[in-house]
Amino acid sequence: MLNKKTVRDIEVNSKKVLLRCDLNVPLDKDTKSIILSDKRIVESLKTINYLLSAGAKVIICSHMSNRTTSLKPVSIRLSELLNKNVEFCGDILSDEVSEKIKMMQNGDVILLENLRMHAEEEANDIEFAKKIASLADVYVNDAFGTTHRAHASIVGVTEFLPAVSGFLIEKEIDALDHSINNPKRPIIAIIGGAKVSTKIGVITTLMDKVDAILIGGAMAYTFIKSKGGKIGKSLCEDDKLDIASEILKKAEEKNIKLLLPVDNIITTDLSGSSDTQVCDSNNIPEDYSGVDIGPKTIEIYKKEIGNAATVVWNGPLGIFEIERFSNGTKEIANTIANSNIISIIGGGDVVAAVEELGLDSKMTHVSTGGGASLEFMEGKELPGIKSLQDK
Ligand code: ADP
Ligand code: 3PG
Ligand code: MG
Repeated sequence: MLNKKTVRDIEVNSKKVLLRCDLNVPLDKDTKSIILSDKRIVESLKTINYLLSAGAKVIICSHMSNRTTSLKPVSIRLSELLNKNVEFCGDILSDEVSEKIKMMQNGDVILLENLRMHAEEEANDIEFAKKIASLADVYVNDAFGTTHRAHASIVGVTEFLPAVSGFLIEKEIDALDHSINNPKRPIIAIIGGAKVSTKIGVITTLMDKVDAILIGGAMAYTFIKSKGGKIGKSLCEDDKLDIASEILKKAEEKNIKLLLPVDNIITTDLSGSSDTQVCDSNNIPEDYSGVDIGPKTIEIYKKEIGNAATVVWNGPLGIFEIERFSNGTKEIANTIANSNIISIIGGGDVVAAVEELGLDSKMTHVSTGGGASLEFMEGKELPGIKSLQDK
């Protein structure tokens, strides 16, 4: 449970509210103006609407990962979704913005430019934090996807303003916390993705909390090699073989079921334009790479899902971006979506896969956080949550 104050706990009528959202949405690569998924904007609406109805003057700020990318397209989509003009006011430190804020009426909303255009944002520069805080009377953080970043608009600013959480942070923490720390059992975790190194923390933490861990993705090959299997040209982190062995040993000691793929889709052509083959794990020929889990593995994993009451899923099971290598991720996503299981999906790429398949509405909770949800699942303290006022 989130034990921090929320917008419900403070008076916002007639107040200037600095609302930090994570509106870092994917844009098309060419024009950088077409929004490819508006999930993060849609998920921010509840807090924005609440503040507007409560008579606040809402000053929204966000980052884009790319320091030069503008948030202008987001203001257009946000206006459509709110059915209200959201003026795009530009640079947070400009005179134009401070003048505009002085003129704001209760129930007005504006959006400011990408905070990372100022290097001080990522440096958590205290003077910058003070300046942005001076624009408002209170601060609301609803940027769940950025709570793992100790940046000026996430942490520094809370030293200068009363700081509370919005509804999205509350929803994310409640869903993730409940599913992992107080789950309906049996609970299984499916962990995939590219690298063991980025998932060691989450696997180790979940080992003490779940009944089974199902491994997929490229990182499966580091585990398979650590057990002496032949993995051909599959991705492998050779410097993590010892850690992979240790994790397998620990799982055995703790009597945790940790499943590795028993078969794989393999190819010599990573572009995905040639036919693939199925190959048992441990014996992948020298010139081949494993790019997806195979049919036997899919059946085994489906059975585990069928016996579980809760599933936590982080990381795709193959190179899902390429049609020929996407079957494992698709089959598992469909199985979860069409069962009555509690399903918590977290991680930038696995969420993109589930959304692409149009299955997001069939999941219990699809997180807006990539790194943030991973760090939460690892049991790390998120600086953007820590810095908010306690209840
Ligand atoms: P998430 O963002 O969901 O946490 P990761 O960032 O850890 O996931 O990993 C996602 C990436 O892993 C994807 O780009 C996917 O193509 C890649 N991947 C999955 N399986 C394989 C594989 N067998 N070989 C190479 N890359 C893989
Ligand atoms: C994300 O997309 O995970 C968040 O918006 C944080 O972005 P960042 O990884 O660029 O800090
Ligand atoms: Mg990723």
